[in-house]
Formats: sequence, C-alpha cells, structure tokens
Amino acid sequence: MADQLKAELWTSSSNEALKLFIADSEGAVSFPPVFTYPIFGDSETIYGYQGLEILLCFNHYTFRPFLNIRYDKKLEMPNVEDPKSKLLTLLSKQTVFKDEVKWVDEVKNEIANYQIPGQLVDDFEQDNESYEIYKLDLTSDSGLELHQRLQILVLLFIEAGSYIDSNDPLWNVYVLYKVSPNEKNPRSIIGFTTIYQYWKYPGAKAFDEGLRETRLKISQFIILPPYQGKGLGQLFYSRLFGNWLKNEEIVEIVVEDPNEQFDDMRDRADLSFLNKQLDLNLINTKLTPGWIELTRKKFKLEKRQFARLLEMILLYKLK
Ligand code: ACO
Repeated sequence: MADQLKAELWTSSSNEALKLFIADSEGAVSFPPVFTYPIFGDSETIYGYQGLEILLCFNHYTFRPFLNIRYDKKLEMPNVEDPKSKLLTLLSKQTVFKDEVKWVDEVKNEIANYQIPGQLVDDFEQDNESYEIYKLDLTSDSGLELHQRLQILVLLFIEAGSYIDSNDPLWNVYVLYKVSPNEKNPRSIIGFTTIYQYWKYPGAKAFDEGLRETRLKISQFIILPPYQGKGLGQLFYSRLFGNWLKNEEIVEIVVEDPNEQFDDMRDRADLSFLNKQLDLNLINTKLTPGWIELTRKKFKLEKRQFARLLEMILLYKLK
C-alpha cells in the first residue's frame, strides 16, 4: 500500500514507454516518438504502471498497425490511465491488438493483392535506389485507410500537429515509397505529406474566360526517422515542387508553420533550384521590385520565402 502512494514509482514517461517499429519480412527497425503530449497530455507521462512498454508496429509497405502493451505491475485504481483505449481511438480501425500471429497473417493476406491506393505521379533514383511518389486517392476506402494508418505520425513527430479532415476533397496526400528489388518486400513507405488546395478567385473576367488559380499549402511533411538525413526529404519536396511548377493552375506554393528543420531543408532545395534557373552571379544587377515580383511569381514561391532566398544569395555573394 505504501508503494502505491509513491506516485513516482507508478509514473512512466510516455516518450520512453512508446516504441515505434517498421517491420518487413526480414525484421523490424525501432525508433522513439518525438512528442506524445497530444495523446498522453502535456506532462507526457502515464500513471499507474511499472515496467510499461507500448509497442506500435507498422508494416513497411501497407502500414497495417499492430499494438501491444506490456507491463510488470498495474495499480488497480480508478484514475489509472488506459493507453490502449487512448491509442485505439487515434489508430485505424484495422489495428490488431496483442495478437501478433493474427497481424502477421493479415499483413501476408493484404500484401498478396495489395495495390497502392493512388496514382503514381513521379519516380526518381537516388544513391542507386529507386523511389516513387503516389498521390493517394482519398475518395476510395483503401486510400482513406492508408491515410488513417499514417496520420498518427503527425501527432508523434510534428509539434502542434493534428488530424486533417481527409473527407474534405481539398486535401491531397502524397506518399514517398522506396522500390525494392526484393520481391518479398516490394515497396517501403519513406514519408508522406498533406497538402491543402486553396482556390483563388482570379477576378470575374478571367474566371469567365475559364482561368482557374490554386494555391497549395504544404501542411504536414514527414520523412520516417530511419530515412532522415539522407537527402530524401529534400528530394521529395523538390520533385513535388517540380510537378506543381508544370501545372498552370497552381500559382503559389506555401508552407504552414514550418519548423526549423523543414525551413532548412526547403532553403537548400529552393537555393539549388534557383541556382539552376538563374545566373546568381548577376543577381545584384537585377534586383528591381518588378524583377523580384515577376521571378517570384514565375517560380510560384511565397513572398517571405523568396525574400529569404534572395537575402541568403546576397549574403553568400558578399562573403
Ligand atoms: N547524406 C547525409 N546527409 C544528408 C544527405 C545525404 N545524402 N543529403 C542531405 N543531408 C543532410 C542535409 O544536409 C541536412 O543536414 P542538417 O541536418 O545538417 O541540416 C539533413 O540531411 C536534412 O536534409 P534531408 O535529408 O533532405 O531531410 P530529411 O529527409 O531528414 O527530412 C524533415 C527533413 C522532413 C524535417 C524530417 O527530418 C522529418 O520528417 N522530421 C520530423 C517531422 C518534421 O519536423 N516535419 C516538418 C514539420 S513542418 C511541416 O510539416 C510543414
């Protein structure tokens, strides 16, 4: 009874208790979450257990989730939290709890006929590996299901991240896959991004003439931790950006609340793009307000970002 009154003995850090895994037919890689406060509260603790371990595992290809919870001791008191029910409300309904054999069987059956629920929009090579980008079909059950399996990562890796309303047709989700030559593990999910499409009224005359203008807002952007720091985030962003540049309906690409890591990745990608498009040695001879606005619009960059990029280029030239 005395032990039961010592709260610290029964309090676990939810960031340490929750362990994430990506599994393929050869094994699993594990990594910790960055944030768990959206699930377990601001103090990121879970009360009522000793030796608590929460294992959340995803298949590398279909992302079908498996949840297991283990502990040495549990307090039998009414205020003890139930991590299982908290997590199950946030996970896909197809999450398998506890029964690993059932999950393995379900994964095998699913993979046997699995089609990525979306349209291939781009592919590229990097370091002798092949990658593909798919735009999910959120009007299909399988597209919605894949998004439901992925979305918990937004809570776990993006500060202040929250679930989007994937039934809103203005949301798009793009998923990056690595293509594997190994037939047993044909593709692996590397990351994903959610994009909101704002329709911009171009004025009555232009509208009557059929002009349609859209602004895209990159809302959530994630590369799975085992694949971070390999240039894949930059490539995913640059390939999508390149596709949107070719689409005449898209007039601007903005980013919602980028964090420092994302800004850094985007700056590198945008600078390398501008370096291919412009003669940066001559840029200080061109900097009139007219040129800046024309160039910014041509490259569909938002004002703040284009100003930052110009500043960086000028600072670099002054060195
Ligand atoms: N080998 C080794 N390192 C490399 C390579 C390479 N071939 N290429 C680039 N790098 C380095 C870059 O120089 C950069 O270095 P830095 O850490 O010193 O800045 C670093 O890797 C990051 O560049 P990328 O590898 O292209 O980026 P990554 O694939 O890691 O993706 C991202 C960046 C998306 C921020 C990722 O870390 C992530 O998902 N983080 C968690 C979620 C998150 O914060 N998302 C953004 C939130 S904001 C928003 O969603 C709008």
